[in-house]
Amino acid sequence: MRQGRFDEPASETAQLYSESVSIDWRLSSHDIKGSLAHAKALAAAGILTREEHEQIEAALTVIEAEIKAGDFRWERSLEDVHMNIEAALTKRIGAAGAKLHTARSRNDQVALDLRLYVKAESAEICTRLRALQRSMLSLAERYQTVVMPGYTHLQRAQPIVLAHYFLAQMEALERDHARIIDCARRADVLPLGSGALAGSTIVLDRELIARELGFAKLSQNSLDAVGDRDFIAEFLFGLAMIGMHLSRLSEELILWSTTEFGFITFSDAFSTGSSLMPQKKNPDMAELTRGKTGRLYGNLIALLTTLKGLPSSYQRDLQEDKGPLFDSVTTVKDALSVFAAMLPELAVNQGRMESAADDPNLLATDLAEYLVKKGMPFREAHEAVGKLVVRAANAKLALNNISLLEMQEISPLFDEEVLKVFNVRASLAKRAAIGAPSPENVAAQIARWKSLL
Ligand code: ARG
Repeated sequence: MRQGRFDEPASETAQLYSESVSIDWRLSSHDIKGSLAHAKALAAAGILTREEHEQIEAALTVIEAEIKAGDFRWERSLEDVHMNIEAALTKRIGAAGAKLHTARSRNDQVALDLRLYVKAESAEICTRLRALQRSMLSLAERYQTVVMPGYTHLQRAQPIVLAHYFLAQMEALERDHARIIDCARRADVLPLGSGALAGSTIVLDRELIARELGFAKLSQNSLDAVGDRDFIAEFLFGLAMIGMHLSRLSEELILWSTTEFGFITFSDAFSTGSSLMPQKKNPDMAELTRGKTGRLYGNLIALLTTLKGLPSSYQRDLQEDKGPLFDSVTTVKDALSVFAAMLPELAVNQGRMESAADDPNLLATDLAEYLVKKGMPFREAHEAVGKLVVRAANAKLALNNISLLEMQEISPLFDEEVLKVFNVRASLAKRAAIGAPSPENVAAQIARWKSLL
């Protein structure tokens, strides 16, 4: 912005270096909304006549339509979205347009646009999180009774059902949803009226503006309001967290799609081939999602680092908030859409999963708990079953093929009933504490999510 005190135009190099319109044009609809509300307050304060106000409203509406249609010429020499729109307005209607920036600075204007943007995009992210949760819920329903090994350390641990896995992912996305809503609440504060840093001698009705734009609160300190980007940092954290959850899901699905696991197959529509190896079918969508998590973290760290050394109020450094913000929003929205479309098309190899779950070692803990129920302290039971596991391994026998006699050598508490322990479905049925994967619990969780979603 070079007016008044400047004799020379900015150097071309400096203009190119400092312009932001190539990025912040994305704020145009929010910028226009903000200007319409500001104009209303200027009219209410008697700064604009009724005719001037009407001229501004009409011209901004036309400009917005031009932008939507792709007919608007963005000028890099006009620096940013705010100056571009204001210049177009003044070109159309002259003096009335030149009054619009009364009692406003680009500092409170850009803070306003960003808050409107974060509010709108957080609602969109929430919608897409819900869509993904719904696609997971339908998988949970479809595979409600498919038994599979649950893993810790990527080693077979205890039995679960596939539904329990998808319900687990939905819990993580639910926390993400709550986090985004929470951070949208803190973005829901009107900064307009803060001016450059100290408000204005022309006092506008900020409550009118807040009502007009749908803000729940007004900022209470102009110096803070123009320099505050906490709401963006929080939003970027929320988006990074979503990325992390999708990345962990991706990693697992990639693993499960290997020949070694053979648990799932991605549909053709969401797989890619190799330019060299004809047999390959690669899980690129999941890999890209895992990979893109890097930029989501990077965007968060970039903003936090930009903010860390800044004096209070506005500094031009703050212009660097937009690239990371827009990039993370686009990245997460795309990833959520891809996953919501890709998951319902997953083919699940139930046979492979269930035969993997048929491993009696998955029930070693159940065996220890059997001894506990007969009165043995758990640590001793753990030790006793450990010995049995070694014996079985040495004899190349499955744990359930050791004779009762041999078991009784280790503990006299073993009796014929022990054979009943080696039944995966019976084991699942007993896992009945809240949150554990008994069939009743899984059914109840599915019902709970159905009513929630
Ligand atoms: N393009 C600027 C930004 O994105 C708008 C605010 C400019 N303010 C200023 N005092 N130069 O931050």
